[in-house]
Amino acid sequence: MLTVTGIGKAYEGPQGPVDVLSDVSLSLSPGDAAVIMGPSGSGKSTLLYILGTLESPTTGAVRLDGQDPFDLAPKALAAFRNKEIGFVFQDHCLLPQCSVLENVMVPTLVGCSDAGALAHARALIDHVGLTPRLDHLPAQLSGGEKQRVALARALVRRPRLLLCDEPTGNLDRASADNVASLLLELQEQQSAMLIVVTHSADLAARFPVRFELTDRRLQRIG
Ligand SMILES: Nc1ncnc2c1ncn2[C@@H]1O[C@H](COP(=O)(O)OP(=O)(O)OP(=O)(O)O)[C@@H](O)[C@H]1O
Ligand SMILES: [Mg+2]
Repeated sequence: MLTVTGIGKAYEGPQGPVDVLSDVSLSLSPGDAAVIMGPSGSGKSTLLYILGTLESPTTGAVRLDGQDPFDLAPKALAAFRNKEIGFVFQDHCLLPQCSVLENVMVPTLVGCSDAGALAHARALIDHVGLTPRLDHLPAQLSGGEKQRVALARALVRRPRLLLCDEPTGNLDRASADNVASLLLELQEQQSAMLIVVTHSADLAARFPVRFELTDRRLQRIG
């Protein structure tokens, strides 16, 4: 269960603090899938980064199954993030010198005793249709293929929470539909909690829970 209570975030800007989020609350249960929409600059990525423990909130609390990750010491927080949270970045952030298989395996290299990790990584790559590209480098993949690798990498540790920042932002309609279907299917299989940020009304319509972030506040719209 993810519980977010009264999150506020202010960044230090050149002319003083910039308020980005105010009193944001939400909760999700395992298997829930939610989408967040909102204008550019409204704080969607900031919220996702806070939920992903990559950025800390100025006020409020985040709890994943009762644990506030920001209470953890830096090393324990890094381990927690690696194990419990899958993050798909808008620009996928694959390691350019590593193959498809190596990229998907990266989260399993630290603190993972799962002997089946390699088989699981291969199964995920197969699921996203990239077995014929197993040894390709990111530069040898299309944009949609890179997004699918990023998705497999985010899922390889079977995270409780999967966060995706505009995962279909750079894709054509057919590839976006394909990535969205995979995302929802894999999330359902693993009973993960899923939050996707998007500007796409088509993508948003496929999610049972919808939020909008405007004027620093998060509102449920569906
Ligand atoms: N490190 C930072 N320091 C200062 N201000 C920041 C910082 N990061 C983001 N901001 C500001 O916070 C606001 C929200 O940014 P954020 O990236 O969360 O928006 P967004 O909703 O994801 O926008 P987009 O749809 O364009 O991706 C913006 O006005 C931005 O300028
Ligand atoms: Mg953003």
